[in-house]
Amino acid sequence: MSSETGPTGGSIDTVESGRVDEGTEDGEVADADPATEDVADLPLAPYPPNLGHPKLHAFRQMRDPLEFTDRAAAVRDVYRVWLPGLGDVTNLAHPDQMKRVLLTERGDFRKSEDFGIAFGDGLLTVEGKEWAQQRKTLQPLFVRESVMGYADTMVDQVQRRVERWEGGQQLDLQGEMTDLTLDVLFDAILGRELRLDGDERIRRSAEALHDWFLPTSYPLPRWLPTPARRRFREGKRTLQAEADRLLAEAAEDPPSDPTEADDLIRLLVGLREAGVTDSGMLTDDRLRDQMVSIIFAGHDTTTTSLTFALWALAEHPDVRERFHEEVDALDGPPTAEDVEAGRLEFTDRIVTETLRLFPPVYALPRVADRDVAFDGYRVPEGERVGILIRRIQRDPRFFDDPDIFDPDRWTDEFRQELHDFAYAPFGGGPRICIGRQFALLEAKLSLATIGRNYELYYLGDEGYRGGPPLSPEMTLRMEEGQEFLVTER
Ligand code: HEM
Repeated sequence: MSSETGPTGGSIDTVESGRVDEGTEDGEVADADPATEDVADLPLAPYPPNLGHPKLHAFRQMRDPLEFTDRAAAVRDVYRVWLPGLGDVTNLAHPDQMKRVLLTERGDFRKSEDFGIAFGDGLLTVEGKEWAQQRKTLQPLFVRESVMGYADTMVDQVQRRVERWEGGQQLDLQGEMTDLTLDVLFDAILGRELRLDGDERIRRSAEALHDWFLPTSYPLPRWLPTPARRRFREGKRTLQAEADRLLAEAAEDPPSDPTEADDLIRLLVGLREAGVTDSGMLTDDRLRDQMVSIIFAGHDTTTTSLTFALWALAEHPDVRERFHEEVDALDGPPTAEDVEAGRLEFTDRIVTETLRLFPPVYALPRVADRDVAFDGYRVPEGERVGILIRRIQRDPRFFDDPDIFDPDRWTDEFRQELHDFAYAPFGGGPRICIGRQFALLEAKLSLATIGRNYELYYLGDEGYRGGPPLSPEMTLRMEEGQEFLVTER
């Protein structure tokens, strides 16, 4: 397994060839669990016995969600927590369980309504036939050939941004990487560069979608108008209005044939104009939701991955030295050919290991569509389950010294022997991230471009389990205000 060749239950080849893998044409899947009648007799999963009274768990989880999860999952792979706004949630901390939910028994689970609240009816959210149609429609933008074609645009955008950096400057990288990944996403996938004047509202509002999932707000009853929820609603409204504006701009000159469009905005506008009924995206609302989904999913996770990778380089001088040797040996700015020829092999392992320790999507929420059993415990129909990706990727049963940043653990032999769902930063099964090849290429090219010109030192605090301080929101981020010192090379 390698980050280029796809773990977790779906051969990348089938996905990347533009087919919807692992499901039938209409997105239906086979009924996989034969023992439903016995499930009704099973007990519910216990609350973690080592974390005090269950009614206090919500407060403990709000205060420190990662520590809470680690302590609970250290005792058993299946446990329940009760949260005032959500009721009981059964959390799953074993890769076998993740494989069942995402792949072998995926027909028994659906996405939770939180995705819909944040993203409407875009690809991240919709289910069944509509999902299959949308995925097939968008796939051409994300197949390997298209992705490799974005390489020069990516490097150009990264160079333009980092050439503003000056030696001696102190940077909060989270903000800087957000700007960088939005620049890359817009130029490569959306087909329109973000402008310095007029597009700032897009940058600011994309950030606000996180606020729905803030640990201090998310578990509270839904009717409570928390400040985070107000910020979320305002940000979402703004982003929707901006998406409408970009679509209206493009509608003035739509492509005559949508299959010819090689960027998202023209593809969407072309589908609507041509009335392509099996695209899953004909109404204005659907087009707008797709834009919001891709703008958020397409930059936020890569932002945090880059920030954590730069932290790891700053904090591990031996790794940094070998990384600099690799990128200095390139003939010039990094290219798609460098990646394909394996000239960024160590950089690839740095990215793989970063996504293991700090998976931006640190947990996946689902809802059981019928009574299901895990390790002899019942999850009743309609209850939420949470797949604890971050916890699984730091499980000592699968990774020696799991808290240590060690790119060298990713030997071919280790990859082959690893459980196929013990490393799943992009999810798994048919709903595996559509943008993973894009994200991996962007991460490697961005790191190499930065590394050829700069060396960064971390000035921030130390956080939980030896990493930087973390803030688990919709995605796992570095806490605000952790600065880096830039030095020129
Ligand atoms: C390091 C970067 C990234 C990470 C860690 C990541 C992670 C994930 C994960 C875990 C899922 C599965 C969600 C689920 O099963 O509920 C997912 C889905 C998705 N991702 Fe990514 N992602 C990344 C980058 C991107 C990029 C660059 C794009 C687009 C340009 C993108 C677009 C999407 C979309 C549209 C889906 C939904 C796919 C579907 O349901 O068919 N992601 N991503």
